[in-house]
Amino acid sequence: MSDSAVAVRSYDVFAPEAQADPIPVLHRIRAESPVSHLPQLDAYLLTRHADIVAALKDRRLSPANMTQGLDAFTRDQQDELLPLRESIHLWMGHTVEADHVRFQQLLKRYFTPATVNGLRPRIRELTTELLDAAADRGGMDVVTDLAYPLPANVIAEMLGMPTSEREQLQTWSRDLLAIFQLADFERLRQAQRSVLEMEDYVRGLVRQRRTDPRDDLISMFVDAEREGLVTEHEIVANCVLLLFAGHETTAGLIANGLALLLQHPDELTRLRTDPDLTPAAVEEVLRCDGPASSIVRESTAPVEVGGLELPAGTRVYLAIAAGNRDPEVFPDPDRFDITRRPNRHTAFGLGAFYCLGAALARTETDECFRALLPRFPDLRPAYDELDRTPVPPLGHRLRSLRVEF
Ligand code: HEM
Repeated sequence: MSDSAVAVRSYDVFAPEAQADPIPVLHRIRAESPVSHLPQLDAYLLTRHADIVAALKDRRLSPANMTQGLDAFTRDQQDELLPLRESIHLWMGHTVEADHVRFQQLLKRYFTPATVNGLRPRIRELTTELLDAAADRGGMDVVTDLAYPLPANVIAEMLGMPTSEREQLQTWSRDLLAIFQLADFERLRQAQRSVLEMEDYVRGLVRQRRTDPRDDLISMFVDAEREGLVTEHEIVANCVLLLFAGHETTAGLIANGLALLLQHPDELTRLRTDPDLTPAAVEEVLRCDGPASSIVRESTAPVEVGGLELPAGTRVYLAIAAGNRDPEVFPDPDRFDITRRPNRHTAFGLGAFYCLGAALARTETDECFRALLPRFPDLRPAYDELDRTPVPPLGHRLRSLRVEF
C-alpha cells in the first residue's frame, strides 16, 4: 500500500447491523473514513458521491471481473464452474474495450429513450393485464404479482421469447443472482445449471430466427452474425445477460418504489394528485433505494481514489447507495422527496458502462406507478414490517410486499 496521508479505517460490512440496515452504517463510514478498507473482501470502499463519480469516469478502474468470485474455490470446484466462467467472460461489460464498444453499438438503438418510448403502449397493456389478475383478489404481493412479471414479460418480448416460457425465465434469473452476490459453491453450481439451460434455450431461438427472422432483438443479432460482427456464443451469452439484467433490477425498483411510497403517505398523496410528478418520483426512488447498491471496479494501473494511491490490481467497491445520500450533494439526504431537483444520483452508474437499460427501467416503473395508483385509490400495506433479505455486501432485496386495496 502507498504511504499516502489519507487515514483509512477498516469496517466489517458483514456485521449484523450493516446487513440489517446498511444506510446508517454507510453514513457513519462516510463521515469517519470516506475511503475505507474491507478486510473480508480485500478491497477498498468509496462512500462519497464525488469520489464515486470520479472513479466511474476513470478508465484505469475497470469493471471487476465477476469471475474473480470463483477464484476462492478449490481447483476441482473451479474446474466444475468453468462453463459459467466462460459465459461470464462474454458478457458485454466484461470483455475487452473493443468488444464492449462493438456490443454497445449493436444494442444501443434498441434501448434509447425514443425506442423505449415506443414500447409504452405495450408496457401499459402488460401492466393492466397483471393488475386485472390481481384486482378481484382484493390484494396482491407486489413482488411476485407485478414487479417481477412486468419487466420479465417486457424483456422476453423484446427478445422474442414466447409467453409460455416466461415463468421459467424468472426461476433461471433467481438462480443467476448468485453470480452478483457473494454466494457459496452450491448456489453457483445451481447458477451455472441455469445459465447453461438458458443458453440452450436461447440457442434454439437463434436457430429459428436464422430461417424465420422477426422484428426482435435476436433477429437483429442474427443479422449482425451474418455480417461477421458477432459469434453465436456471444449472442447466446449476452441474451442471457439481457434476460437477467432486464428484469431482476427493475423488479427491485418497482417494489422498492412502492414500499417507499407506502412508507411516506404524504408523498404518495402528492403523486396521486399530480401524476406528472411520476418521472421525478422514479428518480427519487432510484436515489433512495436503487436496486444496485454498489459497483465493483479493479485498478488496471496505479490510481488515486479519494486522495489514496492504490496499486494496479486493487479492488474498489463504489457504494452508490452511500454516494446517493451524501449530504454534500443531496440536502437532507434521508428525506424521500419526489420533487427533489437536481437529483444527480448514480443508481445506473455513469460513463462508459452506464446502464444500457436505464430508459427501459425508468419507463416500466413510470407506467407501473401511473397504472397502479389510480386503479387502487385505497392501496395500503398488508404487512407490519418490510420483508427484506440482505444482498451482501451492502444491498438488500424485498422478498415480498403484500398490499390490500
Ligand atoms: C432499475 C433497474 C436497473 C438498475 C438499477 C441497473 C443498474 C446498472 C448499473 C449500476 C450498471 C453499471 C455497471 C457498472 O458500471 O459496472 C448497469 C449496467 C448495465 N445494465 Fe442495468 N440496471 C437496471 C436495469 C437494466 C435493464 C432493464 C437492462 C436491460 C434490458 C440493463 C442492462 C444493463 C447492461 C447490459 C449493462 C452493462 C452496460 C455496459 O457494460 O455497457 N439494466 N446497470
